[in-house]
Amino acid sequence: MKLTLVMAMTADGKIARHNRHFPNWTGRADKRMFKQLTTEAGVVIMGAGTYETIGKPLSGRLNVVMTRHPDRFQPAENLWITADSPERILSELEARGYAAAALTGGATINSLFARAHLIDEMVVTISPVLFGEGLSMFSEPIHAALDLKSMREIEPGVVVVHYAFRYDATTLPSQ
Ligand SMILES: NC(=O)c1ccc[n+]([C@@H]2O[C@H](COP(=O)([O-])OP(=O)(O)OC[C@H]3O[C@@H](n4cnc5c(N)ncnc54)[C@H](OP(=O)(O)O)[C@@H]3O)[C@@H](O)[C@H]2O)c1
Repeated sequence: MKLTLVMAMTADGKIARHNRHFPNWTGRADKRMFKQLTTEAGVVIMGAGTYETIGKPLSGRLNVVMTRHPDRFQPAENLWITADSPERILSELEARGYAAAALTGGATINSLFARAHLIDEMVVTISPVLFGEGLSMFSEPIHAALDLKSMREIEPGVVVVHYAFRYDATTLPSQ
């Protein structure tokens, strides 16, 4: 199972101003890329906070929504509400025949997967805006290094950077 973190951030490293800030600042090209990458993967995994910000399942993909309180969500097509751990979610997806999944935030859920060393790659859109406040990509300390795979400008001023994760302590720069 290949897990790719797909996120957008400001040039000062923020993913949102607050925990219900709808990501409408990332630009059209990012939206198109997000749809393409997540549709190719077939699965988006997100936290309850992000799901509530979006307000409905994303069409054409299995939406896995992580919550400690599954009863508070209504069932819907393409929606799997779960209190399972990241490891169990990925093995269940594999059992269902998925070879890849996109992890799509927010900070809390990203941290659960990074802490368990389950994120293989990261595609980050850097938008030419500043918030000066708000959420980072992770909500707790993470120890990982990244290998650059590619970078490109997808619309004027908007850059996408693609990294592979490296968790091996012997190869990490001192942090
Ligand atoms: N820029 C981007 O690319 C991007 C992408 C995604 C999201 N965002 C933004 O990020 C913000 C949301 O991030 P967030 O960190 O507040 O929320 P989040 O990570 O989406 O979801 C957090 C929620 O997950 C649930 N959860 C499930 N398992 C958990 C566990 N083991 N420990 C703790 N919580 C667990 C909890 O809800 P329960 O109380 O239901 O258990 C918790 O409140 C929004 O503003 C959104 O727009 C930005």
